[in-house]
Amino acid sequence: MSKNRGKLILIEGLDRTGKSTQCELLRQQFGESTTLLKFPDRSTAIGQQINQYLTDPSYKLPDQAVHLLFSANRWERNDYIRNKLLMGDNVIMDRYVYSGVAYSAAKGIEGMDLEWCYSCDRGLVRPDLTLFLVNHESNDTREGFGEERYENNSFQEKVREQFYKLFEKLDSQNDLVIVDVTGCTIDQVSKKIWTIVQDTKQIPSTTFKLFE
Ligand code: TYD
Ligand code: MG
Repeated sequence: MSKNRGKLILIEGLDRTGKSTQCELLRQQFGESTTLLKFPDRSTAIGQQINQYLTDPSYKLPDQAVHLLFSANRWERNDYIRNKLLMGDNVIMDRYVYSGVAYSAAKGIEGMDLEWCYSCDRGLVRPDLTLFLVNHESNDTREGFGEERYENNSFQEKVREQFYKLFEKLDSQNDLVIVDVTGCTIDQVSKKIWTIVQDTKQIPSTTFKLFE
């Protein structure tokens, strides 16, 4: 008798759209046997280098190298994620491949187009469901916004464009839901998300989708 594996749910969005709060609430709703992972995972050696890049404006590293670090930071967790799912755990991710590609491609650096940025993530396990949180109100009023690299509104606009290009490229109709959180309370967003998550079908334990 084949068992179902856990569900892999990804919450994506621009900076300060409430991803982390919603990931935590979703984890609580799933209850036991749920793993929450945040990318970048700043706890690893690679993650610490990423953290330094994000928080220290004087830290110099070529954009290509930064991009590869973010991707490597996902690869170092890939087996862990697959194993958790096979054990029957649900896995929730706070950012993943889509952020990885969109933020790097948004820099507009020659040779670092969407395809180049995506290529090193090919083969990573693909979520069963991706929720993309969108807030149409300006997001620069949140406390702490602007402290890290990438946290300014003109750059965020470019990132948004790249997210949508990537959704098209990856033919995301079947596993992507865009969640409009404009004007919603935390509780309202959480209810929307839970409804969508419950509709995601069970997956046989031997089946994984990959980013191709
Ligand atoms: P994050 O820790 O999610 O920041 P916050 O919780 O403040 O939103 O992400 C840090 C930044 O890193 C964020 O601006 C998005 C960016 N990022 C990339 O550029 N590439 C990536 O692969 C990932 C996962 C994030
Ligand atoms: Mg941020």
